[in-house]
Amino acid sequence: MRLILVGPPGAGKGTQAVHLAAHYKIPHISTGDIFRANLKNGTELGKQAQSFMDRGELVPDSVTNEMVRDRLGNTDVANGFLLDGFPRNTNQAQVLDQILAEKKMPLDAVLELKIDNAEIVKRLSGRRTCRGCGVSSHVEFEKPKVAGVCDKCQGELYQREDDKEEVVTRRLVIYTEQTAPIVEFYKSIGLLKIISALGDVSEITKKAISALG
Ligand code: AP5
Ligand code: MG
Ligand code: ZN
Repeated sequence: MRLILVGPPGAGKGTQAVHLAAHYKIPHISTGDIFRANLKNGTELGKQAQSFMDRGELVPDSVTNEMVRDRLGNTDVANGFLLDGFPRNTNQAQVLDQILAEKKMPLDAVLELKIDNAEIVKRLSGRRTCRGCGVSSHVEFEKPKVAGVCDKCQGELYQREDDKEEVVTRRLVIYTEQTAPIVEFYKSIGLLKIISALGDVSEITKKAISALG
């Protein structure tokens, strides 16, 4: 299964990606997670990305595309992959197309998670992210067993810098202006599947698997 998950910030891409990657036994590749890991480790890539991420802007394509090209060079993608948060604009979609054509690894599907803006704000304002493994939880909707501690790896939970209201607003604008057009493109070539992002996490996973066949 070679899959792209697309949807606005807070739609639950990261949450669903964990379950779908386990179900299909494929690596979960989140460009946001890779940038955050680099920030945490103080790498050059992390330094390049930080100011863009903090403002809710896209990290420049020159940086992002090379990072993804590199990641897709890893042997673990031989049986498929799940891309979460990439591509996010037309140029990235074109570059991905070239990379996959070179590797003779055509996409199977693009899954869009549909959600309205009011729900997004509720989700992002209560989201907590693990410093250890990057997994999301929520102070109300997906409470960890122990407050402030990740269920999966016992890492510390923190609030992402870009989950502040002004930055969320900017991320939504960027999504509408830059990412929504690529969803239309994937629709036009028959790869798009759409499901609602509302409801229980496990119900959404089931809907996703049945939509993907
Ligand atoms: P990225 O990390 O990709 O952020 P995003 O796209 O804005 O998406 P989020 O991670 O905020 O949301 P999500 O859909 O994963 O939701 P989640 O599952 O956590 O990107 C961050 C930044 O990095 C970008 O702004 C940009 O600067 C840079 N970047 C990344 N990729 C890039 C690229 N390709 N090009 C350029 N720059 C790039 O869920 C949200 C919350 O809701 C959680 O609290 C969760 O517990 C809760 N929740 C999930 N599902 C449910 C449910 N069913 N019911 C109730 N609550 C739920
Ligand atoms: Mg995410
Ligand atoms: Zn963790």
